Amino acid sequence: MTAWHEIGLVGVCTEGQLREFKVSDQVVLLWCHDGEFHAVQGICPHMKVHLAKGKVDGTVITCPGHGSRFDLITGEVVGWLETLHGPAKAFLERAGKRQNLVVYPVKVVDKRVMVQF
Ligand code: FES
Repeated sequence: MTAWHEIGLVGVCTEGQLREFKVSDQVVLLWCHDGEFHAVQGICPHMKVHLAKGKVDGTVITCPGHGSRFDLITGEVVGWLETLHGPAKAFLERAGKRQNLVVYPVKVVDKRVMVQF
């Protein structure tokens, strides 16, 4: 069953900023882009590194762990383990399977940012 969860007032995240929130045992990454809020799972599906310290280029975030890249709007994987090569890549590929980020619906109600999961 899904529910809407408040994560803060609209000022919690300014244009281009990434913010991590823990809400009801979920780590949520909130990103403000072109005046809209976007929310995805805040933990990399590979080896559970927090994505909030990743670098954003356009709409794509690069995981600080091993360079997997995800679109912050669609959640899609656009690159997987890109900083790994050879035997290290083969070994660490087994640690977690290639998987898109979960995208959470976001709405603003009375200046409060709400995320659904
Ligand atoms: S933890 Fe994110 S790519 Fe390995």
